[in-house]
Amino acid sequence: MAVGIFDSGLGGLTVLDAVAKRLPDLPLVYLGDSANAPYGVRTPDDIYNLTTSATQRLFDAGCDLVILACNTASAAALRRMQEGWIPTDKRVLGVFVPLIEALTERQWGDNSPPREVDAKHVALFATPATVSSRAFQRELAFRAIGVDVEGQACGGVVDAIEDGDMILADALVRSHVDALLRKMPEPDAAVLGCTHYPLVADVFQDGLGPDVKVFSQANLVAESLADYLERHPTMVGPGEESAFLTTGDPKKVSSRATQFLRRKITFEAA
Ligand code: DGL
Repeated sequence: MAVGIFDSGLGGLTVLDAVAKRLPDLPLVYLGDSANAPYGVRTPDDIYNLTTSATQRLFDAGCDLVILACNTASAAALRRMQEGWIPTDKRVLGVFVPLIEALTERQWGDNSPPREVDAKHVALFATPATVSSRAFQRELAFRAIGVDVEGQACGGVVDAIEDGDMILADALVRSHVDALLRKMPEPDAAVLGCTHYPLVADVFQDGLGPDVKVFSQANLVAESLADYLERHPTMVGPGEESAFLTTGDPKKVSSRATQFLRRKITFEAA
């Protein structure tokens, strides 16, 4: 019984933490591809190849259901994976849909036609690959009409977080928020469309001001996973052990992860 959680690096730990709190008895196998992070500056083909090999590693670890806790992989690779790569007895879910359902005030899996929603001006903060894929706008258009989305590609933030340089991450977030506000001075809502960004969510909120509702994915993904597993209990795979796997240096990655989650995390080589 294990569910796989994948990210290019450490950002997906924000999702893992929320899932572990919501479903404490569920074994989770986390895989961070730190050796190849960041994905956000890679080509779609590159992201597809890296994401499929990481997902296969999680299938091999006994996970029948894998969450791509990485917006960049969800945006650039998931659709192509669903079109032919995923075996029929496995499932791979992304992190966009739960967020967009929350933004558009929908229940999980409500597929009714698009309608008007409260948020009219939405700021999207994400990696360059996610912003240029326009996957967020595509998923949003299935559910809402009349929403203006302004994307801000936040170059450098993921590298700074992976390096544990939170002073640099803070400064970069402030300059990306300023750049966004120059293009869209009064957003109603902001989406943190990268799973690394909750680690600096207070900096985004501070820069945007208290009137902007900031949507972050971790809890939304955890709730929608709980709902999914209730409807599809057999998708919990045969694995029974939780594990943290990395393609990077396990010692370095363990120490950063422990610093971020404020509890001891021990990674092993993938
Ligand atoms: N956490 C990934 C995301 O949600 C990070 C991206 C990267 O590796 O650039 O997009």
